[in-house]
Amino acid sequence: MTRFLNIAAGIVALAALGSASPRQRAEPAGLDAFISEERGIALQGALNNIGPNGSLVPGTSAGFVVASPSKANPDYFYTWTRDSALTMKTIVDEFLFGDTSLQTYIEDYIHAQAVLQTVTNPSGTLLPSGTGLGEPKYYVDGTRFNAAWGRPQRDGPALRAITLMTYSNWLISNGQEEKARDVVWPVIANDLSYTGQYWNATGFDLWEEVSGSSFFTTQSQYRALFEGGELAETLGVECTGCDEAPQVLCFLQSYWNGEYITANINDQSGRSGRDANTILGPISVFDVNAQCDSLTVQPCNPRGLANFKVLIDAFRNASLYPINEGIPQSSGVAVGRYPEDVYYGGNPWYLITLGAAEYLYDAVAQWKTQASLTVDKTSLPFFKDIYAAARVKTYKPTGNGTEFSDILAKVTAYADSFVAVAQTYTPSNGSLSEQFNKTAPGNPLSAHDLTWSYASFVTMAERRAGQYPPSWEPSVPAEVPAQCAASLTKGTYSPALAAGAPNVTTTCMSKVLFAVNASTYYGENVYLVGNTTDLGSWNIRNSHPLQSSNYTEENPLWFLQVDLTAGETVSYGYAKHEDCNQPYIYETTNRTLVVPACVEGADDVVVARTSDEWEGPDGSSGGCAS
Ligand SMILES: *[C@@H]1O[C@H](CO)[C@@H](O)[C@H](O)[C@H]1NC(C)=O
Ligand SMILES: *[C@@H]1O[C@H](CO)[C@@H](O)[C@H](O)[C@H]1NC(C)=O
Ligand SMILES: *[C@@H]1O[C@H](CO)[C@@H](O)[C@H](O)[C@H]1NC(C)=O
Ligand SMILES: *[C@@H]1O[C@H](CO)[C@@H](O)[C@H](O)[C@H]1NC(C)=O
Ligand SMILES: *[C@@H]1O[C@H](CO)[C@@H](O)[C@H](O)[C@H]1NC(C)=O
Ligand SMILES: *[C@@H]1O[C@H](CO)[C@@H](O)[C@H](O)[C@H]1NC(C)=O
Ligand SMILES: *[C@@H]1O[C@H](CO)[C@@H](O)[C@H](O)[C@H]1NC(C)=O
Ligand SMILES: *[C@@H]1O[C@H](CO)[C@@H](O)[C@H](O)[C@H]1NC(C)=O
Ligand SMILES: *[C@@H]1O[C@H](CO)[C@@H](O)[C@H](O)[C@H]1NC(C)=O
Ligand SMILES: *[C@@H]1O[C@H](CO)[C@@H](O)[C@H](O)[C@H]1NC(C)=O
Ligand SMILES: *[C@@H]1O[C@H](CO)[C@@H](O)[C@H](O)[C@H]1NC(C)=O
Repeated sequence: MTRFLNIAAGIVALAALGSASPRQRAEPAGLDAFISEERGIALQGALNNIGPNGSLVPGTSAGFVVASPSKANPDYFYTWTRDSALTMKTIVDEFLFGDTSLQTYIEDYIHAQAVLQTVTNPSGTLLPSGTGLGEPKYYVDGTRFNAAWGRPQRDGPALRAITLMTYSNWLISNGQEEKARDVVWPVIANDLSYTGQYWNATGFDLWEEVSGSSFFTTQSQYRALFEGGELAETLGVECTGCDEAPQVLCFLQSYWNGEYITANINDQSGRSGRDANTILGPISVFDVNAQCDSLTVQPCNPRGLANFKVLIDAFRNASLYPINEGIPQSSGVAVGRYPEDVYYGGNPWYLITLGAAEYLYDAVAQWKTQASLTVDKTSLPFFKDIYAAARVKTYKPTGNGTEFSDILAKVTAYADSFVAVAQTYTPSNGSLSEQFNKTAPGNPLSAHDLTWSYASFVTMAERRAGQYPPSWEPSVPAEVPAQCAASLTKGTYSPALAAGAPNVTTTCMSKVLFAVNASTYYGENVYLVGNTTDLGSWNIRNSHPLQSSNYTEENPLWFLQVDLTAGETVSYGYAKHEDCNQPYIYETTNRTLVVPACVEGADDVVVARTSDEWEGPDGSSGGCAS
């Protein structure tokens, strides 16, 4: 009920804005009060989604960050490596800013991730070559998730390393260098090995939709490898993979297309490449002491600012986002992932609208630190929108003019106006979902209490309050090789025992092709389930969906390749399911397979192919798939 009152007030504000005084929007009444209250709600909102005590996520193991308590429409009741790392980075930073009560969460996280690294999953294993680290998500008790998914995702290990390195640097400064080296570094080292080995291979992007190379991923990978090299030197250990940093930085430059940063390359998505991935990356590698011309593409970077304008302008389109109609060019709007988005109809996201604000606060902080602001031909259109008198020149706070401070005030007001948009669409109890409707009245949509939304509010509020995370950039600007080259460094992997990982050893996995003839209705699928963890331990929720790409009426083949432990005997069976609220239909027999020996060093060889015929009842069409 109260939510609708709040949103109604928002409509009034927007209507007023469309007709008369746009300046009002840049300085909305009560923004300070809103931010100070919501910051506390947001931090608590994130903590509520972390095990073992999180009030909204009972059953979650210690140190696991759940994406959202929502278990249906959509089901986000999992722990994602990326979302967890970004959330824990926020928590580490809050800890560094003085909230010592958060240390338990960090310690739990280190332990949970050390164990998680060893969990064999559909992306692979930790040993011998790290492939399992690219798995995007797990159940909230840290067990593997078998269903089809956009995997691997290669940003997770880099982001987790960054979070753990930030905490390690604190340990070192507080007399706990041994702990940093012996307990935390082994976890980080696996992630850096993975990053150095696979940065030049394609994977799924942060939205889990596009397979290719993602700007967000590459940017985080560079930071991880550069910081890893520095930390290894401090600790007197080796970093395998960190030598790749210059090549990653070289590759990062190739996302710029002369007009904006293309979010995904080496992909087949057919999208324009305008995507908020390119503003979330810069805020997660933000360093207040970095130079604006740094090749790491900081928020104040001229290309970054040109890109910011192109991206935001894409969402000013009122046919795309009706709630942005009438908002002037100098004021913030509701921002979504990318203009072609259709998920839940394609709507603005809280974490991106807030991320846009954070981006601008970051840039202002950098200009202040440098006491200098250079407008060049590339960034001029960005500045013109908010400061009509902007010219190509370097502005300084010295001298008799006030232009430098005027521009900074304008950019800050512009940042505030994005927060004001988020405020307009935030329910009065402060809860933040994933999205809000692009059409008035702009109700919250998709997953409720999204952990990443809450974390994004906290980081935005930190920047606005002048709280910056520790610096990481090289003091001497990083250079890139004269020529970019495809490359990799083979990683070294071992379970982080001191942090609590089990002592897993290399197992040579055998690839088995499960093939079954099973006639199905349109919309009905076939699943494989069995008695080992690899096969879901008879839990249908964790069964493997089979592929139907070779299915014909005469030869109704369903199949899937699965890695199993050589020599083990497995009990398995198939189930049919049509998603019309109908129950699963199980076979009337349990099958047995002895997994043959593996082929050492030839992971792709199929060592066995079943030839099964469905034994069990037929389903009936539920009529809801069309
Ligand atoms: C907060 O408000 C939203 C929107 O009205 C509602 O869906 C949600 O259940 C509320 N949360 C709590 C904890 O009351
Ligand atoms: C969870 O609760 C237990 C028991 O009260 C406590 O010992 C532990 O520190 C709590 N963990 C966190 C992360 O708050
Ligand atoms: C690998 O690196 C080369 C050199 O930077 C680049 O041209 C190529 O697109 C990269 N491929 C992937 C998948 O990262
Ligand atoms: C505005 O959005 C509509 C609806 O998505 C789209 O058809 C149109 O091409 C967009 N206009 C511009 C200028 O991008
Ligand atoms: C100060 O202002 C005067 C008059 O506008 C101008 O001629 C002079 O160049 C300015 N000095 C600086 C350092 O900007
Ligand atoms: C968004 O709001 C519009 C207008 O109220 C409504 O028709 C539409 O169904 C909503 N979208 C979603 C995904 O709920
Ligand atoms: C871990 O397992 C390996 C191989 O079985 C063994 O050599 C090693 O001693 C074990 N390490 C610990 C700490 O148990
Ligand atoms: C599916 O069909 C392709 C193309 O004919 C064939 O190469 C492949 O082996 C088939 N897969 C299975 C599991 O039979
Ligand atoms: C699975 O079933 C087979 C056949 O009954 C049995 O030999 C094996 O020990 C079982 N494995 C597990 C993990 O229960
Ligand atoms: C197969 O084995 C599982 C686990 O023991 C059991 O729950 C299931 O009923 C068995 N199915 C058949 C058809 O025997
Ligand atoms: C599946 O059906 C095809 C076509 O009828 C047949 O050739 C094949 O042998 C069948 N496979 C099994 C395992 O029955």
